[in-house]
Amino acid sequence: MTDKTFRTIWTTEDRYVEVIDQRMLPHQFSVVKLETYEDAVEAIKEMIVRGAPLIGATAAYGIYLAVREMVEEQLNGSFLDEAFSELRASRPTAVNLFWALDKMRDALDNCEGDFIETAWKKAAEIVEEDVETCRMIGVHGLPLIEEIAARKNGETVNILTHCNAGMLGCVEWGTITSPIYQAMQKGINVHVWVDETRPRNQGSNLTAYELTRHNVPHTLIVDNAGGHLMQHGMVDMVIVGTDRTTRHGDVANKIGTYLKALAAHDNNIPFYVALPSTTLDMSIRNGLKEIPIEERNQDEVRFMQGKTKRGKIEPVLICPETTPASNYGFDVTPARLVSKIITERGVCDASEEGLLSLFPEYK
Ligand code: MRU
Repeated sequence: MTDKTFRTIWTTEDRYVEVIDQRMLPHQFSVVKLETYEDAVEAIKEMIVRGAPLIGATAAYGIYLAVREMVEEQLNGSFLDEAFSELRASRPTAVNLFWALDKMRDALDNCEGDFIETAWKKAAEIVEEDVETCRMIGVHGLPLIEEIAARKNGETVNILTHCNAGMLGCVEWGTITSPIYQAMQKGINVHVWVDETRPRNQGSNLTAYELTRHNVPHTLIVDNAGGHLMQHGMVDMVIVGTDRTTRHGDVANKIGTYLKALAAHDNNIPFYVALPSTTLDMSIRNGLKEIPIEERNQDEVRFMQGKTKRGKIEPVLICPETTPASNYGFDVTPARLVSKIITERGVCDASEEGLLSLFPEYK
């Protein structure tokens, strides 16, 4: 079911890296070639790529590109150190970035042979691991959808999601979309309520795009509609992704996720978080205090980008010229509002105990 016609990141014959320019979706499918680590830094900062797992994969290939340049241009080790520190500083919230960079550092520190080859192989391994991880999240998340479908005697299961935690945020499958695509494969009727997800509109631009490509019935809603739909029995479950999850099960995700969790809690609707273990940050406990929340440029709020009737993709100002805006990228949903966490190893409670039952290596 997953769209085999493209992944979100791939390599070229001349051993560079290409990604989809997600800023142009859904109106235009264009590809950006990354030839230097600076290209990878820019791709992450400017949100050409985004979504925790894909940020990690891009950073891994960014290090490969830095190693290649260092060896080919006979630069010294400080060039590579600079690449690591610029990539580390490219976005603050998604922990996959740091996880992937640590994996690359480890591989290079232990490299006894060819530096370029080692970086190339490690980055590819990180990408392949994400594909399999997301597939397994689908395997474990599917029974949760099946259970609701059975309870509803085969009637449509209505799922609400926020932001984009689909394949566009990963490499293939996606985290929240993997159980959805696998449910579709099994003939279960699903329908997805897609939050538009201001300010960058990952819902309307990206989630709606990929659900369309996969023929998943879906409806776009404004970010404030979820509570109303829940009150009227029109949502059976909420599934969101995450950028960082603490040892206690607190979850940082795109701004507005917390409000969905509150509404779900008030209406007794299961609120699931789908995550690859690469999004776990077991070194911290309290999400509210310890997860750094990215603040982005206020113009992302003051302007909205779209396609005009004349077919031009351009931003328009949606407030008075002088009105300032605040732009927090993420919020933290406390563990008590998360019904279950869906991982590649199974489903668990959003708690230290729950996470350790699946990931005992963090004891
Ligand atoms: O700012 P973004 O678009 O990178 O934020 C992405 C999200 O919040 C996703 O939901 C999250 O990274 C999970 S992607 C599988």
